[in-house]
Formats: sequence, C-alpha cells, structure tokens
Amino acid sequence: MDITEEINRLRVEKRAVILAHNYQLPEIQDIADFVGDSLELSRKAATTDAKIIVFCGVHFMAETAKILSPMKTVLLPDLRSGCPLAYTITFEDVKKLRLENPKAAFVCYINTSADVKAECDICCTSSNAVDVVNSVSAETVVFLPDRNLGNYVSKHTARKMIIWNGFCPTHENLKREDVVELKKIYPAAKFVAHPECTSDVLELADKIASTSGIIKYVKTESSQSFIIGTETAIIHRLKKENPDKNFIPASRKMFCPNMKYNNIESLYEALANEQPEIDVPEKIREKAFLTIDRMLKIGKKD
Ligand code: 13P
Repeated sequence: MDITEEINRLRVEKRAVILAHNYQLPEIQDIADFVGDSLELSRKAATTDAKIIVFCGVHFMAETAKILSPMKTVLLPDLRSGCPLAYTITFEDVKKLRLENPKAAFVCYINTSADVKAECDICCTSSNAVDVVNSVSAETVVFLPDRNLGNYVSKHTARKMIIWNGFCPTHENLKREDVVELKKIYPAAKFVAHPECTSDVLELADKIASTSGIIKYVKTESSQSFIIGTETAIIHRLKKENPDKNFIPASRKMFCPNMKYNNIESLYEALANEQPEIDVPEKIREKAFLTIDRMLKIGKKD
C-alpha cells in the first residue's frame, strides 16, 4: 500500500482537511492542505467547510479547532502531542488569580487548554499578542502562561502586566551564548527569534516574530543567511520556499519532541479510523469560543 496515495484517497472520500503547524515533521508539512502558525490555523479551522479536520500539531491546537467548529470531527493523530507550556497553568490557577485581581483583564496565549481559555477574557497568539493587550480597556492585564512573550508584550504596552511564570522548554533551550557564537561565525546573517525565547536572547534579534512572521521576514529580507531562533522543523518550510537562502538553526536543542509524535503512519491511521477524536464539553466550549472569537475580531499584524 502506498500510504501517501491512501491518505489522498481518504481525504477526498471523507471530506477531510489536513492542517499542520510549522513545527511538524517535513513529511506532514508536505502532505498538509495548509501549513501555518497558531493564528492562521485557528482562522483556517473556523472557515473550512470540511467534515473532518485532522490537526497535526499539539493538543491545544486541535481543541481550538473543535471550539471553533463543534459540528466537525477533529482528529489529533497522536494524543501524546501535548504542549508543556500549556500544562504550566490550570483553570483552578486562573480562578485563584481572578479572585486576587478582580479588575484585571485576563489575556491567555493560545497555548492553553480549553478550560483555561474558558476562564479568560481574550485569547492571543504570538503574532497578535501586543495588539490584543492594547485592545483591552482595563489598566491591568493578567497575561498567561508564557513569561517571555509576556515580558516582550510589556515592552510594547502601557498596561500594567501581571505575568504567569510558564515557559516553553524548547525555546528556553536557546542560550544567549549560542547566538553570540553563531553571530561570530556568520556575521552577515540576520538573527530571527520567536518571542517565547528569553529576553537576553531577544535583545540580540534583528527580528522578533511568530512562526509565520519569521517566514514572511525571510522571504522579503535581502540578506542571504538567517540564524533561526525557533523550533528547527520550520527550516524545512524556509528552505522549500527560499531555496537560494541559507538557514542556520540557532541551537540543535530547539527541538520539540511533542510536535513530532504525529507522523505519516499516525496521520493515515487517524484518517482511516476517524480517531483519536478531540472533544470539548459544551459548557467549556461556549465560554472558550467567546475568548477566541474576541481575538479573531482583532486585526492581525506581524
Ligand atoms: P506560533 O503561533 O508562532 O506558530 O507559535 C506557536 C507555538 O506553539 C510556539 O511554541
């Protein structure tokens, strides 16, 4: 059996759309209908008329698709694909923070579980976090769960920020010394970094952006070489779209094992068996929907 042919047959037969995050394995990126960042994928999930969404990403991303498309079947090829950053905060933590900060607006990064989103006012992604925080009328914002994105946003807003102490282990694996060393070896290269990197790393960046922001920057920038400060799988797409440019991973340690559980075999199995299915209890879904919908109504900038 040719697995690619089978996936192609099943996706048509079952009216399925395959969405893949920019950190997925090359084989998944190549077969997906759409590859993108968290915001692009949420928008895609909201507008597709497919019957089945196969979400090749991590658990919160598939949950987000289900929140936006409750009538569709949402599949996550491998349930082990969780996000360690999202797991740093629970809905009980948010409830406690609410009691402590009754006047604050609660902004949650999309890297949160559905029940955490349900307890917050508005969602954001790395590409619109500054715009979202600036859009709220409250003077104080509780921002969760990523401390580095929170610190980055706090430099671009007049709001008082209370920031949860969560972090992405993959992005915090990049150390300032790694970048300093690479800049010596490749002095002409531009260094681009994801805002989940630590602030001492971000200080060295020529551009700070979401994964799609990095893709756009590389395409339009005249430089030939780029040091890539985010999960290394994005380099597959960067090379494909810019074959004449040179990409240097800022650190080989920027590898997210959770994103790599989904592979071509588990994608095929998911499509064939229509599971594992991601579901969100209706009461939580309705509240989480409002949190995401408020974000989707805000224009995207990179
Ligand atoms: P993007 O929204 O930039 O794709 O980031 C998602 C993510 O999970 C980063 O770790």
